[in-house]
Amino acid sequence: MGRVIFHGHSCVELTASDGTRLLIDPFLSGNPMADVGPEHFHDRLDYLLLTHGHGDHIGDAWAILEKTGATLVATYEMVTYAQEVQGVENAHPMHIGGGWDFPFGRVKLTPAIHGGKIDGDGAEAYTTIPAGLLITVDGTAIYHAGDTALTRDMQLLRGQVDIALVPIGDNFTMGPQDAARAIAMVAPRIAVPIHYGTFDLVDVDPARFTAAVGDAAEVKILAPGEKLEF
Ligand code: NI
Ligand code: MN
Repeated sequence: MGRVIFHGHSCVELTASDGTRLLIDPFLSGNPMADVGPEHFHDRLDYLLLTHGHGDHIGDAWAILEKTGATLVATYEMVTYAQEVQGVENAHPMHIGGGWDFPFGRVKLTPAIHGGKIDGDGAEAYTTIPAGLLITVDGTAIYHAGDTALTRDMQLLRGQVDIALVPIGDNFTMGPQDAARAIAMVAPRIAVPIHYGTFDLVDVDPARFTAAVGDAAEVKILAPGEKLEF
């Protein structure tokens, strides 16, 4: 049985039934919502996935990668920056619309409408397009939308997603109403709100998302540290 564990903001851990451990957008140090620090992953991490280059998504990525030797999965530009500037050794570059079969399952990068800056020293030359992630583990398809506006491209995911993690914090991404429209388009079985409550600019009550989704999906509001088994 696989697990999704929410660690606050957009940080999500996935564990496959074979024990493979994946971590998405590890903003832990300095994140008031995080239930664990980066050292929580030092005993084992196999893959680290980044949706885009903003600081609240890269977070502790470089330190965790150095400590664990996990494989970074991100856009070509993010991976190039990681290798050339941050000294990351193991990495797998991808890009929007492309998928790859990893030993644990499949990852496909999906469109996300958002800013492309990579935060970090020496990152000027590496601006990229932000992504969402469609990850299939143990036959369950998990969509982590990253930071994004509502976009009709999400309709293309309809029928392909079991669990959708969508930003609802407004201001920088979809707010609860648009996130609910995204859920109506994608039609997952389970919808999980992310990217809210971390700081004032994304301080949104997730109950607004639950109300707006209605019967379109089962909404699971995960507290940091809470897990969802699939
Ligand atoms: Ni962002
Ligand atoms: Mn963000």
